[in-house]
Amino acid sequence: MTHIRSAIVGWGHYLPKKVLSNDDLSKMVETSDEWISTRTGIKTRHIVEEELTSDLAYNAAKMALSRANMTAEEVDLIVVASVTPDNTTPSVATKLANRLGVKVGTIAYDILAACSGFVYALTQADNMIRLGQVKTAVVIGAESLSKIVDWTDRNTCVLFGDGAGAVVLKAVEGEGKNTDTGILATKLYADGSHYEDLKTDGGVSSTQNAGHVFMDGKEVFKYAIGSLSQAAETVIEMGGYKNSDIDWLIPHQANIRIISNVGEKLGLPEEKVIVAVDHHGNTSAASIPLAFSENMESGKIKKGDLVVFSAMGAGFTWGASLIRL
Ligand code: ACO
Repeated sequence: MTHIRSAIVGWGHYLPKKVLSNDDLSKMVETSDEWISTRTGIKTRHIVEEELTSDLAYNAAKMALSRANMTAEEVDLIVVASVTPDNTTPSVATKLANRLGVKVGTIAYDILAACSGFVYALTQADNMIRLGQVKTAVVIGAESLSKIVDWTDRNTCVLFGDGAGAVVLKAVEGEGKNTDTGILATKLYADGSHYEDLKTDGGVSSTQNAGHVFMDGKEVFKYAIGSLSQAAETVIEMGGYKNSDIDWLIPHQANIRIISNVGEKLGLPEEKVIVAVDHHGNTSAASIPLAFSENMESGKIKKGDLVVFSAMGAGFTWGASLIRL
């Protein structure tokens, strides 16, 4: 019996030109390259100047469509995951729909699940493809976190960066086996009792402004290690695989110590865990597709590889996806 799967047939990423180093930051707040490097693994991050989140998303989506050899008219669904949209409403996705030139009627919406946004969006798009509601989708994570960071707060401003990543999904026929190409398993979670632990201190209905990022770093740190590894392990098991079968783990890129701990918990050798936090910082919903696209482009991740995306973010939200490329 045939079985519809969502295959990743294109990938793209985009980073704004301006690079901010740890030394640059040490001229803005009381910090040092030594502190930031050892505590977070971050060396540089990209920061938007004139561009908007939709510009970052557009460039990533264009690249992904080109890698997929697809035109905009073939797109049935656009989902953008972001906490930093151009406008409160309408969505970045509708702006993109117009700019990419997709057909009228193409579904377009944003989702907000913070750093888990991309895996949430990927899961929804996969579900719509498997239900036969759409045949193709462009799923994007795009953020201008520099716009909601308090640049006088050294606890947070050193952690974040801007950028966008995208994938193109296409319905393909599989056999329903775990050797199929495409998304093999997804799992999402949330625990709203942690609402206050990582948030902006403002918003439309509360303060009428976006606010700045605030977090309980230690609580986030602990929770991230547990949730990222648990979600990854769950989708690996759902797919009928063992941790040792995985070719690549792409965890949310927040902090090198979180990433290393997750790799260790899963028993994965260091070489199988993708790291991009050193040159991206934490780009929230963009972090996984950015790291994925960079490593597809470099040829490190290859067609046929078994890959796990695992993310955790504000809410708290978390989740993972298992994919055969
Ligand atoms: N430069 C120098 N000193 C700093 C800086 C800085 N940029 N930031 C904080 N400090 C100081 C603090 O003031 C504090 O000093 P004190 O002890 O005199 O009060 C000390 O350093 C803090 O030390 P710790 O809290 O022990 O630092 P820790 O090792 O916990 O690292 C960090 C802090 C990096 C924020 C860590 O908790 C972390 O990574 N948490 C995860 C947070 C995260 O990544 N959030 C992003 C969103 S969530 C997500 O994406 C999953």
